[in-house]
This record gives sequence, C-alpha cells and structure tokens, in this order.
Amino acid sequence: MSIRTVSTQPFTDQKPGTSGLRKRVPAFQVPNYLENFVQSIFDSISAPTGATLVVGGDGRYYNREAIQIILKMAAANGFGKVLVGRGGILSTPAASCVIRKYATFGGIILSASHNPGGPDGDFGIKYNSSNGGPATETVTEAIFAKSKTISSYKTFDAADVALDTLGSSTLGTMQVEVIDPVNDYAELMESLFDFPAIRALLASGFRIKFDAMHAVNGPYAQAILEGRLGAVAGSVMNGVPLEDFGGGHPDPNLTYAHDLVEIMYGDGAPDFGAASDGDGDRNMILGNHFFVTPSDSLALLAANATLIPGYKNGLAGVARSMPTSAAADRVAAALNIPCFETPTGWKFFGNLMDAGRVTLCGEESFGTGSSHVREKDGLWAVLFWLNILAARKQSVEAIVREHWAKYGRNFYSRYDYEGLPTEAANGVMSHLRDSFATLTGKAFGNYTVATCDDFSYTDPVDGSVSTKQGIRILFADGSRIIFRLSGTGTEGATLRVYLEAYEADVSRHGLDAQEALKELIGIALQLSELKTRTGREQPTVIT
Ligand code: G6P
Ligand code: ZN
Repeated sequence: MSIRTVSTQPFTDQKPGTSGLRKRVPAFQVPNYLENFVQSIFDSISAPTGATLVVGGDGRYYNREAIQIILKMAAANGFGKVLVGRGGILSTPAASCVIRKYATFGGIILSASHNPGGPDGDFGIKYNSSNGGPATETVTEAIFAKSKTISSYKTFDAADVALDTLGSSTLGTMQVEVIDPVNDYAELMESLFDFPAIRALLASGFRIKFDAMHAVNGPYAQAILEGRLGAVAGSVMNGVPLEDFGGGHPDPNLTYAHDLVEIMYGDGAPDFGAASDGDGDRNMILGNHFFVTPSDSLALLAANATLIPGYKNGLAGVARSMPTSAAADRVAAALNIPCFETPTGWKFFGNLMDAGRVTLCGEESFGTGSSHVREKDGLWAVLFWLNILAARKQSVEAIVREHWAKYGRNFYSRYDYEGLPTEAANGVMSHLRDSFATLTGKAFGNYTVATCDDFSYTDPVDGSVSTKQGIRILFADGSRIIFRLSGTGTEGATLRVYLEAYEADVSRHGLDAQEALKELIGIALQLSELKTRTGREQPTVIT
C-alpha cells in the first residue's frame, strides 16, 4: 500500500456548469478523466494536511466506482478523514448538512441531479465548500484552469473500502468513516419543524403521496415520513433507489413525475403529493387536483414562515433566481424584508445566506431551501408544506387561492426546447440581443416593451460580477419574457423561455396558466424567431 503519482494528459472539456461537471457516464469512464478532475479539485482548494472531507452521491450508476477512486486519491493527497454515506449514498442536502454539522473542510458530491442515469445516462461531480454550499465561481474557475494544465495525479494503491457497513477503516493514514446517510439530516428536520403537529395531521386521515422516483430520497422519505411522522405505509412510492432510476427521468415536474401526477389528478386523490429529484434537492408540490408552481411555493413559504418553529422569529430576507416569478417579491415587500434577484444556480444564494441577509431562497426550477443548509432541499420543502397544512388546517388549493387573493397571481410557465443544435440556440440568443434597441418601447397587442437587457449580477457581499445570465424582455405592466440557455444539459443546447404575467383581479385567478399566458407566448415566439431558427414547432417540456 503506497502513494503513487500517475502521469496524465489534460482534457479540454472539464469546465464545471451550473452545478458541477456533468457528462455521460462513458465520458467519465475514459481512463484518467475522473482522476484528472478530482486532482484539479484538490489542487485548487488548498486543504490543510489532515483535513476532513465528506463524500457521497445519489447512488446513480458509477457512484460506487467513483467513490473508491476519490477515497484513494483523498488518502494520497493528505486528507486525514473522509465521512462517506453508507453505500456511497448522501442526498445533496444531506451532504450539505453533514459538511456543516461536522465542520469539515468541504465535500465532494456525485450526482447529475435530475438527469437520467444508467450506463448511458449522466454522471456528475461537484465540490462544496466548508459552508456546505457549491463552490463559488472563483473556485470552479480555478478547478477548470488546473484541469487544462494537469500533468499528474496522486492515488493510493489499496483494496477497495467496504462502504456497506457503518464504522471506521483506514487508507494509509487517512480514516474512512462510513456514516448513516439519513440520521443527521432527519435530526436537522426534526429541529426545524413541528413533528408532533404533522404526526397529528397524518393520524387524522390526511393522506399524502411522496414519489421518490427511485432516486436518493427514498430512504430519507421512508425514515422521516413513514418512520418518524407515521404516514401510512405506501405513502412513499418508488422508494427504492436504483442505479438507473428504474429507467425514469428523476425530475419532479408535471411531465416526468407522471405516476404521481396521475394519482393526484385521479379519483380519490390524496390531499397532498410531492416528488423530489435524483439527488433529493428539487421538489414538486401538488394538492388534490392542484399544482403549485415552484415560484408560488417560495412566496407561500415566505408568507407562512412564522407558523414554523424553525422560522418563527421571521425571515432576514428572501432571494430568488432571475427567471423565477416575482411572487416572492410581493410577499417580501409586505413583510418589509429584502428580496434579492440572483442568476440561476443555487451557488449564488450562498454568500447571501452566509452573510445572514436571506433565510429562504427559491428557483423556478423546482428548488426551494433555506439557510439550514447551503443546498436546495426537496424533503425540507415537503415538510415545510406539511407543517403549514398542519397549522392552517386548509387544503393546498385553498391556501394557494387565499395567497393569490391577497397578493395577486403571477401566472407563470416555462417552455423548454431540449437538444437543439448549439449554433441554432446561440443564434436565437444573439438575434434577441441584436434586437434590444428596436424592441424598447414597441407595443405587441396588449403588451409594451419597457426595457430589455442581458441580466448581470453584482454579488452584494463579495462584489463579484456575473454577466450574460439570461435575456430579459420586461413589459410595462410587469410581465416578463426571459430567454436563457441551460447550463446543465449534456446534449446540444437547451433553450428555456420563461413567461410571467401578473394578475391582480381575483375573478381571473382561476384561469389556466397557458390560457392566461397565450398572448405572451405568441410574442416570445415572434420576437425570437425561434421556430424558423431551430426548426422546432413545439417545446420538449412545458412546466
Ligand atoms: C441546477 C442547479 C439549480 C439551477 C438549475 C438550472 O439544478 O442546482 O440551482 O436552477 O440547475 O438548470 P439549467 O438547466 O436551467 O441551467
Ligand atoms: Zn438535484
């Protein structure tokens, strides 16, 4: 057993995207591909000798192999201890919780989030810092720079570490501790929410269905919802994590979580439904025959936060990503707390949370969370909702409708055009940029363009600037059309069109979102020349 230095050649494509490096599994299986990236992480983070690292992933195909590689490289690179979830499992929020709870130097999370898994599916890796959140752009840029010049990596020649039993072993001088992946997280949840009230709600016959989509949250949901909270057996569906997510696409939206959607829109639907994604950080919330948009969900959690023990003293502020609807802004204004608008990507909330300037954050991409960890947190959102339902004793739909009546409704929808040729997608974006000057002030039916820009963000905490974060067409009445290229796809380009229209009139709140947004959708297609430039008649997914 000894440390070995292996010479290697750089790869040119190891630039981390919105949330780490994501590629198809075969790309990661190319000799030295993962090793190069892991060494680039270690070379960029300057961990002191003997530091502790957390390692875990969502259990997708290649998780176990990757963890063995990382453990051996950590041992060769001077780490003193690694905490690894049993079976290599840690949901993304649980990894963030463990990094914070044990004050470790950082952690490596293996996941491609909501992307499909399996031998031909996606795999991913990202580094989270000691605050438990995704590394800042400065760090990810350093990792990318290193990956372009790397000439060797260090590993430790030893047998694989047993990952399926709790306890400690050693790799050279490094200790490997296999921890229960659920306990620390479940304790944190119990400290935030009124578990007795939720237990009483569930005992009273309130029925819930949680779709774990054969992904990492299965064991978490079983332990917390069915275990600690006493939901009837079977409340958690698709609860066994599978390496290929059972062939499904573990993204909790109306298209991919169709099993759950059928149940929630079927006869005898339960009172509450929810799903989470591959690595457990996203969430979708449903009532009986009712869908709550992620943007509305954030606004609603903010408006009801003081009903929750962990937030009973109120919120420091809220933050949302730019394409997320402005529903939360209205609540923040009413509560007289700040509301921040950041670029897409959870990492942009980290500084605001660390500085104590925001408590709740959310994104239209089915992400909601708070400063309890530094990742978005799917099961946390579910428990937040259950706690509100237990406190207010109304249906999901009644609570949302009351919210709209008080604050107005921000009709919202997102059109995704997946797998476009990169040039066509870039062409749409540059065409829009070129049109800024002619669009301003122009009227389209009921809508007049007030301004348009390419969103850029100056972090109020560290002053860093992020440019070109999405094209915004802002209308005089507050409606918006946003065009943005996805940073998480692995095939071609994905163009997202986000549509939002504000409606104060309660008599119109019952309208279907597609109906209410029809005119705006037409304008978006016209302005962008999307159909002619991409050859696509219809979006791949509408949420
Ligand atoms: C990941 C990040 C989210 C972000 C999303 C955007 O899930 O964790 O914070 O909102 O990616 O994905 P996109 O494909 O739109 O870049
Ligand atoms: Zn995720």
